This record gives sequence, C-alpha cells and structure tokens, in this order.
Amino acid sequence: MCGIVGYIGTKQAYPILIKGLKRLEYRGYDSAGVALISNNRHLNVYKAKGKVSDLEGFAAEKDISGTVGIAHTRWATHGEPSRANAHPHYSSSENLALIHNGIIENYATLKEKLQSKGYQFKSSTDTEVLVQLIDYIMVTNKLDLLSAVQLALQEVIGAYAIAVLEKNNPDQIVAARKSSPLVVGIGEDEFFLASDATPIVEYTDKVVYLDDEEIAIICRGEELKVVDFRNVEMNPEIREVKLNLGQLEKGGFPHFMLKEIFEQPDCIYDCMRGRINVDADNVVLSAVIDYKEKLLGARRFIIVACGTSWHAALIGKHLIESFCRIPVEVEYASEFRYRDPVIDEQDVVIAISQSGETADTLAAIELARSRGAFIYGICNSVGSSIPRATHTGSYIHVGPEIGVASTKAFTGQVTVLAMLALTLAKEKQSLPREEFLEIVKELSHIPEKMKKVLELNHRIAGLSQIFTYAHNFIYLGRGYSYPVALEGALKLKEISYIHAEGYPAAEMKHGPIALIDAEMPVVVIATHNGLYEKVLSNIQEIKARQGRVIALVTEGDNVISGIADYCIELPATLECLDPLITTVPLQMLAYHIAVCKGKDVDQPRNLAKSVTVE
Ligand code: F6R
Repeated sequence: MCGIVGYIGTKQAYPILIKGLKRLEYRGYDSAGVALISNNRHLNVYKAKGKVSDLEGFAAEKDISGTVGIAHTRWATHGEPSRANAHPHYSSSENLALIHNGIIENYATLKEKLQSKGYQFKSSTDTEVLVQLIDYIMVTNKLDLLSAVQLALQEVIGAYAIAVLEKNNPDQIVAARKSSPLVVGIGEDEFFLASDATPIVEYTDKVVYLDDEEIAIICRGEELKVVDFRNVEMNPEIREVKLNLGQLEKGGFPHFMLKEIFEQPDCIYDCMRGRINVDADNVVLSAVIDYKEKLLGARRFIIVACGTSWHAALIGKHLIESFCRIPVEVEYASEFRYRDPVIDEQDVVIAISQSGETADTLAAIELARSRGAFIYGICNSVGSSIPRATHTGSYIHVGPEIGVASTKAFTGQVTVLAMLALTLAKEKQSLPREEFLEIVKELSHIPEKMKKVLELNHRIAGLSQIFTYAHNFIYLGRGYSYPVALEGALKLKEISYIHAEGYPAAEMKHGPIALIDAEMPVVVIATHNGLYEKVLSNIQEIKARQGRVIALVTEGDNVISGIADYCIELPATLECLDPLITTVPLQMLAYHIAVCKGKDVDQPRNLAKSVTVE
C-alpha cells in the first residue's frame, strides 16, 4: 500500500527520493509524487498517475533542486488513481505539502467544517482534508507546524503515517504515525524517512521505528526529536537494521517472484538454523520454551491471519492438533476483530503476518490482548508493528519478500509452525519419540528436496503455455494438501487474473463438479499420503467428465500417470511436511502462466504488499 519516503540533509533529495520510491514499488501503487523545497525556496510538488518512471518523465524538465523533500506512492482508497488524487497534497496556501499512508475515517465531517471556513479542495482524497486542517489550525491559532499537527491529529479518527513539509521552514520535516508504519533513518548530517527500512538501508543501518501516536521532528543539523500528540518528549530507541542490499535486487532473475521461489531452499535452511539440531534430535523455538507454561496451559489456540498467511495458519492447525492434541481455531483477522469473539486469558492467539503491518491482523491482536489472551506472533519483517504488539513470537527469517505474491514467506511460516508444533509436542510428550525424531530429521531434509522440485522449472514453464487459454482453474487437495490447493489457486488469481478456486477434493461432488468440462483445468495434489486412494477416486470423477487433470504426484507413481493428463513428480516426504514440497510447483505454475500472459508478475494490478488499511 502507499509508500512514504523523506530526506533532509546535505545531498540533493530528488534522486534519493526517487530511488526510495522504487524500493517501495513492491508495496503496490497506482500513482506517485514528490515535494521538494527548492534551492530558491519554492515548495514544488510533482505528481503522475502510473509508475515512478512516469513521475520521473513528468519532473524531467522541472526544478528538482533541494536538499529536503518527501515522496509517495499512492494505492487508491478515496478517489480514483489520477494526478489530482496523487500525493503530496498542498494546503490551499501552498505553504504545506503532505503525504499520507492510511485512512482518515472522519474526513467527510472535517471537510465540511473546512469548506464552511472557505477552504476549497482539488482532489477527492481524505489526505487533502488533513493538510488543509493542519493549515487551518496553523493560520487561525498562529501556531508552528508541530503544534498544528498535534492538534489536528487529536481531531482525526483513523490510521495514518504522515510527513509534512513547510515552505517557510526548509530545515524540517514533521512526521507522525498511528497504526501505519514509519521508520526514521539516521545518517551523518542527514535523515531518511520511509514506510519500511528498504529505502534506507543503503545509506544507514541506524533506524528508529516510530510507535503509535508519536511525532518525529526531523531537523537539519539537529538530533532527532520524538514527542507524542500531547508534546511529551519520548526517548526513541535507535536500532540496527541488518538488510543486505542484494536481497532488494533481482540478482539476475527476470522477476522478484521467481528469485524468491528459488530462494526457498536457503530460506528454509535459514529459518531452521539454530532451531533444529538433528544430531541432538532436537527442535527449539526459544519463545516457546520461554513461555511454555502459558502455551501448554492454554485451553485452545486461535490463529489469526489474512490471505496467504491464513493458508499457512490452516496447515498450522493441522500440525498443532495432530502433534500436540491442543484444539486450534483458524480465523480471518478481519472477521475475528468485528464479531465479538469469545476469548479470554486461557486462550493463546497466534498472529501470522509476513509484513507485520496488516491492519486487520494488528486489530485482531489488540482485541485479543484487551481480553487477556496471550499473543504469539509469527512474522518476517523485523521491527514491524506486529512483533512489537505481541507478547512473544518467532521470526521466519526468510529475508525481504518483494514480489507482491507471497512465496518464500508462506513456506517460512509453515516451517516455523512445524517447529512450534514440534517444540510443544516435545515439552508435552504428546508425540511418540520415534515419530518426533522422524519428523525432525525429515524437516532438515526439506531444503534439499525443494532444490529437486526447483529443477522442474523448465518442465512447468512448458506446461504453463498449454493453459493460458483458461478462464477458470480448480485446485483440489485433502488434509494437509487442502490449504495448499487454496494457496495454489490464490497465486494463480493474483498474478495471472485467471479465476481459480481451491476446494477440499471431496467437496467437489457437493457443487463444483458442475463446472467440470473438457475446458476446465483441475490441479490435484495427489502425493502419496493417507488419503491417496480417496484422491485417486476424485481424479477418476474429474476424468469421467473430461476435465483436464494436472496432478502433483510422488516420484515413481505410475497409477495416476496413467489417468491424469499431466503429472508433476515430486520427491517423497512425510505427509505433515508435504505442503513444503507441493506448494513450490504451484508457485511456479502460477508464475509461468502469468508470464506467458504478459502480466506484471511482481506488481499485479490492484494488489498491495502491505495491507495497512482495513
Ligand atoms: C498473497 C499475499 C496476501 C498476504 C496477506 C496478508 O500472495 O501476499 O494474501 O498474505 O495480505 O499479509 P501479511 O502476511 O503481510 O499479513
């Protein structure tokens, strides 16, 4: 979703801001803009609908001088994608320019009030209302920018990260956050501002993550100052970020998504590093050990998440219930937060989020916390809001995920959930020792087996060409493979815009079978596991209706190869770890179909990487 970048220092701001916007492109956006206070003290705002490159084209002939500026990529909420609605927005006096990520919920009431005072609006956005409100407060009360921002934010209901530039004060940026992320980078005689650390890491590794209701006053040549909305001075913690620049580049791959699919063996290895010790037959997630009474004493676990992370949660439920015999419920965070759920201090809530910023997941955590539940986070993005809002948790350590469609984060989440279930099972002694050891050993072999799956890339690319005609796809799986079917279908929808649905294979008879005809591709996860025979019958049912079956099978399976139209042979593994193997060819299938159809794989239309509004 919207991306924020800011710079103040001794260098020219424009190239830094543009590069920063490009680093944030992965979040998803439809327009971009920049505001700079030029060398001759003009506050220049340039905006364009489309990509950052369109903005560069638009600004090419203009005055882009200045050592202070703010820039933005917009993901439309209020008002269509257009130059007028793009940020930064000027105040009517053109003394202020503001960028915003989030939603001002009471913008209509505030707009009416400002219109009655004579303010006029050029856009349909909630953001323009905020900049006009700050301007109004400044002018009528003769206040400085900081005081006006503080008063304005007390009137605003909603979620936001903002940054404001003032023409009359070119030595300062004022930035604030509530429920949307904002990071300040501290360099030598310069400061950076961004929605996450990716635009900052090439300049400095020192960052401050702003907390809710904090305002940063970033002044040239001074120390960073952070206050709350009531002007109480805060003591910001300066942290070190450890992002390697190579992780933010494509490294020879045509797309981030393909790079991230191929990174999975290393990612899973990194995720398990120091946590699995095969020689000692042990798995340790330190957060589980630290809070084992709380976790083992829980009446039940509730896992909250959205999208792909929700699919990982379904696999987590299966793992925890079968290894630990603890009941687990899985909830969409967006539903959970609004349905007054029965929850109390005997419950443990596990929140799963790659970005650590998903607004609904954060709100679900807040609700569960307020009812006394213990919260465990599983996140990728270090220092993001969710890890800071939970009691404890585990990072998945798969490195930045730039492709909008989640790949390595999903397999990382499943790996952490497997380790969590194993650690608990060991403490609870709920798994027979032989079985525990077998799973631990097999988990440690997953990266090698994933590498074998990646060797199928060319074959899957070839297969993909056959299916670009399709307008619909069905994905079927049972048991551990059902969430994989959902995930495979989601990947295809997101990046190829082909309608796809995942179903538990046996559910097909209860309705979806009506869709099967000679045109319909049906992807069936039919690896060797406890329900193999049942899935085989499901494939027969599809073939009896001329459906085109693409089956994922275990190497050496010569039964399904005689029935299915196409088979993708995968290395054998334990049933409980099968999702870590079967997900990978489905990611590749979606990727190649989207590439064949000429789609923008890394930045699919309408999608945002970090869903910071509900
Ligand atoms: C799909 C995808 C989304 C996210 C969802 C939750 O490829 O990436 O469905 O999984 O928006 O995001 P996080 O995990 O960041 O909370």
